Amino acid sequence: MTDKTLIDLSWDEFDEHRDPRPDTNDFDAVVERAVSRRGFLGGALAFGSGAAVFGTAGLLGSTTAARAEAHGGFAFDAIDISTDHQIHLPDGYQHKVLVRWGDALWSEANDAFKDGLVSVDMSDKVFGENTDGMELFDVDGKEVIAVNSEYVNPKINLPEASEGMPQTADDVQMLKNFQGVTVMEITKGDNGYEVVKDSPYNRRITHETEMTLAGPLAGHDLVKTNADPEGMTVKGTMNNCGSGKTLWGTYLTCEENFNGYFGATGDMPEGEGYSRYGIGGEGRYAYEKFDDRYDLSKEPNEPHRHGFVTEINPADASSTPIKRTALGRFKHENAEMVQASDGRIVVYLGDDERGEYLYRYVSNGTWEEGQDGGELLNDGTLYVAKFHDDQTGEWLALTPDTTGMNAAEILAFTRMAASAAGGTTMDRPEWVAANPTKPEAYVALTNNKNRGVKPNAGGDDTSVNAVNPRETNNFGQIARWTPADGNHAADDFTWDLYVMAGNPTVYDNVYAGSDNVTKGNMFNSPDGMAFSSDGMLWIQTDGDDSNEGEFEGQGNNQMLVGNPETGEIARFMTVPNGAEVTGLCWSLDGKTAFVGVQHPGGAWPDGDGKPRSSVVAVWREDGSVIG
Ligand code: FEO
Ligand code: CA
Ligand code: CA
Repeated sequence: MTDKTLIDLSWDEFDEHRDPRPDTNDFDAVVERAVSRRGFLGGALAFGSGAAVFGTAGLLGSTTAARAEAHGGFAFDAIDISTDHQIHLPDGYQHKVLVRWGDALWSEANDAFKDGLVSVDMSDKVFGENTDGMELFDVDGKEVIAVNSEYVNPKINLPEASEGMPQTADDVQMLKNFQGVTVMEITKGDNGYEVVKDSPYNRRITHETEMTLAGPLAGHDLVKTNADPEGMTVKGTMNNCGSGKTLWGTYLTCEENFNGYFGATGDMPEGEGYSRYGIGGEGRYAYEKFDDRYDLSKEPNEPHRHGFVTEINPADASSTPIKRTALGRFKHENAEMVQASDGRIVVYLGDDERGEYLYRYVSNGTWEEGQDGGELLNDGTLYVAKFHDDQTGEWLALTPDTTGMNAAEILAFTRMAASAAGGTTMDRPEWVAANPTKPEAYVALTNNKNRGVKPNAGGDDTSVNAVNPRETNNFGQIARWTPADGNHAADDFTWDLYVMAGNPTVYDNVYAGSDNVTKGNMFNSPDGMAFSSDGMLWIQTDGDDSNEGEFEGQGNNQMLVGNPETGEIARFMTVPNGAEVTGLCWSLDGKTAFVGVQHPGGAWPDGDGKPRSSVVAVWREDGSVIG
């Protein structure tokens, strides 16, 4: 990593740059300790023996669906790995690129993408870069899709001579415009789905878009800046990772690695929570050199105004986005909203950093069909998950009593509140997905090379535990829980591991993975997840696609489908080498799936020129519903 510049690092490597991992022991010794530490791991080694962490329904249950007999439980024949720069799908499925970075949203930008570049004045009139979470909405019968653009690749976006580092304020402006959110109408014609240029719904939301700060932290001293002395109006949303959809039809965009955008041109202040949130040091893209807002020596509170879940109304391109501070401030991955059986709103939230936490928000009020529930996201309680080794768990409320912090501090410095309350440090919680067919939710714990090796940035213990059972966990796992009484607002739950990713051709220990991981379906680093309406779990990976060493035989990143009842998992899609798969939603008729392909390598999808992050549409040749 040390021979890379800041902009060459992945966000995970950037975290490590800020908070380095110590040299570790011989890897085999590390593995051996993980295996011998706890009895249940011995059980896990003998997969299928009913090991404590695995639910019998998950791994041993029988296949019920009729289609299972023909296709091992799935509506498709699983595909092999790939290592090329193409997309691969099962027989009987097709795909097309819906939209690429640089594609016009309005006619005036038709020629914006030229010789691999977009000019600054067109940069907020085109589809953003590095597509991530997305959701599709029915707006008066029109299909409107909201898509996150997480971050930028300056070496791709800027002229070659810049070597990937902004040289002017215009360069910075352009990079900022490539991030944020794109809202656009799409429609299906003779050539499949296409963007409706000039639609009144089309909109770009960027680092520059004005938004309102709402909830208990709004107006607090911690969020006041020179530009906003009231602490009520924020410019922009950044590093928009995963997504969510409210029951009342709005979009939730989740601000993840916001810390990397800030630096100091003068003295670095000692801001509250800076070290826990990885704020300080050199900004990743040098924004602070051209825009005071990112300069911590001038605006030390600006980072306190990011790291939230922001609500956007996709039906009104003139609406003001709202940052919902009540859902806490951390590296938000996605926001999975469900309604509890008692009528309250529950939002599950992951904080994607090694050894950070899984959260839940529960509204105080209840929601009824037809109600704009926005206010329910201003008034409620945050909880951190505690997973006990006996497969029970509880949600610990973050309150002044449990944290020693006041209500505003709990929301501004949620990580510290979770540490104080005693949550379970997790292996990088990415997406949470709730099963629409029964009260159950899943979290992707993507990987954690620091598990059992070093504490998190708050000094919290990260020894192995039942839900994060492997030291130096490079493969990841998916945990799931069932709330007590089927009520997502209940304080107790039971849990198991749906899958522990691994490589059964390289290892014959816990790093081989759980029983439902085979040579034919193996993968690493589960990340994006979503349920289709039939109750199947779609799993997207953002992992090591070198196809070498302990990842040999796993190929490029992929999307798999998991059957919650049988535990079976089958590979559905592979993406070009270099890319991760992230973001998934369906057309209103369920016959087209939209899938995000972020940071592809090679020259995908154009075949020559620069690689362009894109959303692809996938459908069945026979016109059936997907999933
Ligand atoms: Fe943006 Fe944690 O993925
Ligand atoms: Ca992710
Ligand atoms: Ca990831």
